Amino acid sequence: MFNLEIFDIKLETEVIGRDFIYCEEIESTNTELLTSKQQYKKNGTVFLAEKQLAGKGRKNRIWQSAKGLNLTFSILLTKESLADINTNHINLSTALAVSEAIENLYQLRTELKWPNDVFIGTKKVAGILIETSIKGNIVERVVVGIGINLNQISFQGEFNHPPTSLKLEAHTDINRENMLAEIINLFEEKLFELEKTPDNILNDWRGKCKMIGDKITITENDEVKKGVFFDIDENGFLLLKRDNTIEKIHFGDVSLA
Ligand code: BTN
Repeated sequence: MFNLEIFDIKLETEVIGRDFIYCEEIESTNTELLTSKQQYKKNGTVFLAEKQLAGKGRKNRIWQSAKGLNLTFSILLTKESLADINTNHINLSTALAVSEAIENLYQLRTELKWPNDVFIGTKKVAGILIETSIKGNIVERVVVGIGINLNQISFQGEFNHPPTSLKLEAHTDINRENMLAEIINLFEEKLFELEKTPDNILNDWRGKCKMIGDKITITENDEVKKGVFFDIDENGFLLLKRDNTIEKIHFGDVSLA
């Protein structure tokens, strides 16, 4: 099972992960931090579950993860910490933190897919779901949910993108405690960077997204748009070039055309 001491030794953060909740089973770590507001108040609280009974993916999909083999966790950011931070930037920063953690610890090359999937080659190794709770016009809390496949070696079911795990790619057992600490350390670094130089985050994300410049298809519900992935804008939205116009895309699934 998860060894809290090893995790704690590797954790180098000031805030993120300093309040840490571990549980065997929960519906969804995101839902828990988003809805149990009286219980979880501290900025940077991390909630890790060995098994989610109703793990959520983007677009109402399900996130499946075998018990005790991977990492499924969420990070709470409260409104005081969010003053000047754009939620879309948090999305990009999280994907970068996950991708750099994998590269630092296992020297595997990762790629990012808009808005926030982490791929190794053509397979998805991690997904991110950011949810917010809003009161009036104010974002009260942001919950950053991360699912990353570490030691699972077979996957059943239907997937939007073929899944993989670090064990399948690196051919070795993956240390979950080290990986969690590395992701959280990098995540906090990126949050600090976002406050000072968000452009660096945008540029780092661009550097890891191999689809920029490619012909792509964007699917959102029943609508399909084709064009060239021109860039992301200053808010992290996708800029799609069609003929001579540039259209800003806020949501959607991207695939190569
Ligand atoms: C996606 O790729 O569709 C996003 C997947 C996000 C999964 C994580 S696992 C921890 C957190 N809790 C959830 O219910 N979902 C996120």
